[in-house]
Amino acid sequence: MPTLTVDGVRVHFGDTGGSGPAVLLFHAFPLSGEMWRPQVAGLRGRYRVLTPDLPGFGRSEPPRDPLASTVEGFARVGAAVLDACGVERAIVGGLSMGGYVTLAFARHFGPRVRALVLADTKAEGDAPALRARREEQQARIRAEGTGFLFAQMSEGLESAATLAHRPGVRWELRRLMDTSSHAGVIGALEAMKRRPDALAELPTVAVPTLVLVGSEDPVTTPAMARTLATGIPGAKLVEIPGAGHVTNLSAPGVFTAALSSFLWDVR
Ligand code: MLT
Repeated sequence: MPTLTVDGVRVHFGDTGGSGPAVLLFHAFPLSGEMWRPQVAGLRGRYRVLTPDLPGFGRSEPPRDPLASTVEGFARVGAAVLDACGVERAIVGGLSMGGYVTLAFARHFGPRVRALVLADTKAEGDAPALRARREEQQARIRAEGTGFLFAQMSEGLESAATLAHRPGVRWELRRLMDTSSHAGVIGALEAMKRRPDALAELPTVAVPTLVLVGSEDPVTTPAMARTLATGIPGAKLVEIPGAGHVTNLSAPGVFTAALSSFLWDVR
């Protein structure tokens, strides 16, 4: 499995290899690059799919100083992965926190972006109440670990329809969460808490963009997805009926089909 060192941290990434266009995908919180397994299976052979584990998630080392974590630092991990693979430009995307990192990547490495995929994510920065909640979560993790958060999140991210028809999704989410370290989770909360509001940047995005959202997403709502899609010139919006937050896992067929069709259009 390929690894590289970014800001002193050993980072693992998935790489399908191949000579097709590169697709760099950032994972959600508190999951890992492995969440993209259905899309890797669907795109392998036609695209070179690169799926980093951000510091402290999956097989990557924890950040040395979690409170110094930023979405820009996470975007640098993506740029280092492209460098290590000899890729100059890629289609760059992410889900939820991965979308925040994707927007940071576009801000800092714009010329390396061929197209954007923003799934179940938003441009708005954290409101004070959400920032305060993340701070409480950090304090509680320091005191008692991540179990309480993972229990809440594996139940709370998905729609009732998904949990009824695909009950295995909650266990899959929990399995991915359980590979995350305390330092990784505290660091990602810090990065999300401090990320800038990206609303003013949306009209400056000048590459093809796909916005995906579950119609029942309780975390990053369809209204937030519409803000992204109307703010970014020419963006395409796909709303997945009945799906909750982690749509690439809860509606993998619809998600991968929408992604494939978009990638075909921007080839
Ligand atoms: C995620 O799914 O990545 C997070 O729930 C996003 C967030 O907390 O803002």
